[in-house]
Amino acid sequence: MIEDKLILAPLAGYTDKAFRQICTSFGADITVTEMVSAEGLSRDSVKTEELLERFEGEDRLIVQLFAPNEDPVRRCIKNLMKYNPTQIDINCGCPVPKVVKTGAGSALMLEPEKIKRICKVIKEETNLPLSVKFRLGWDSNSINYLEFADMAVEGGADALTLHARTRAQGYAGVADREAFRTLAHHMMGSGVKTYGSGDVFTAEDAIRMIEEYKMDGVMFARGAIGNPFIFRETRSYIEKGEYEKPGRNEVLETAMRHFDLMVHYYGENLAGREMRKHMMAYLKGMSGAKESKAALTSALTRDDYLRSIEPLMI
Ligand SMILES: Cc1cc2nc3c(=O)[nH]c(=O)nc-3n(C[C@H](O)[C@H](O)[C@H](O)COP(=O)(O)O)c2cc1C
Repeated sequence: MIEDKLILAPLAGYTDKAFRQICTSFGADITVTEMVSAEGLSRDSVKTEELLERFEGEDRLIVQLFAPNEDPVRRCIKNLMKYNPTQIDINCGCPVPKVVKTGAGSALMLEPEKIKRICKVIKEETNLPLSVKFRLGWDSNSINYLEFADMAVEGGADALTLHARTRAQGYAGVADREAFRTLAHHMMGSGVKTYGSGDVFTAEDAIRMIEEYKMDGVMFARGAIGNPFIFRETRSYIEKGEYEKPGRNEVLETAMRHFDLMVHYYGENLAGREMRKHMMAYLKGMSGAKESKAALTSALTRDDYLRSIEPLMI
């Protein structure tokens, strides 16, 4: 069964193996891939399969699939199993038009019977733990997360992650905290695990998700970008009752370690381009970082990155 509490959420464009390795090193119990197209996987797409690669030593990994219905899911299972996933997750939350137009992501919220069929296929074809990540509903006039959760569970889902916003909200507005409590209460005694996602920006937010809203665990999303220390901070509070925050040099050294992992896995060219958004996030809120941020906008090589942030070291 699924016993993990502190999870790195799936984040397209972010949760590649380098970032997953960094978050794991700071105490994430388990991490999730970026969303993977079931259709692409069924067709042996190289680009799709790259998303399933592990970092060195990564022994457990949740693979998140997106699909409009059970057909591509059924067709991708053989390929998927080659990557030995620890758990499969189904994306029912992506609001991006390109995905929604195909009937996948949050469009599944409009047809809850489909999630039941998708879950059933996975349970028939594998004996892996299965989770479903969904939203409150399509918009504020069609809130249906409890009905949706029931459908997923009827199909065989072992765990549920609620991103407590509607599709119409995208990532804006505040997550509906009452909905976490309602879902936890709804699933109480069923054996189905519940996870909360939405506005987890601090360790305190994460603790509240577990202690106040009674979720079994929490998914860290935007709050982990540039701040993988949030896992250590949350865990240190759970275990010792104190929040362990990083010093400035640790932040900068971790950012460079992250960059070096990206170079190791993808080469300096790609790392040079892809690391900027991460590096900006590491520097967010750091005093005196204005010039470093300006320099980073054109950074490409390791030397460029190092030169940009070195003045911030103490
Ligand atoms: C850049 C970005 C990419 C995301 N990619 C995915 C994804 O691939 N699959 C998914 O289920 N959710 C995805 N999400 C949603 C997050 O996992 C999370 O549920 C959401 O950001 C709410 O949490 P937060 O308010 O704490 O950031 C993404 C969010 C962002 C900001």
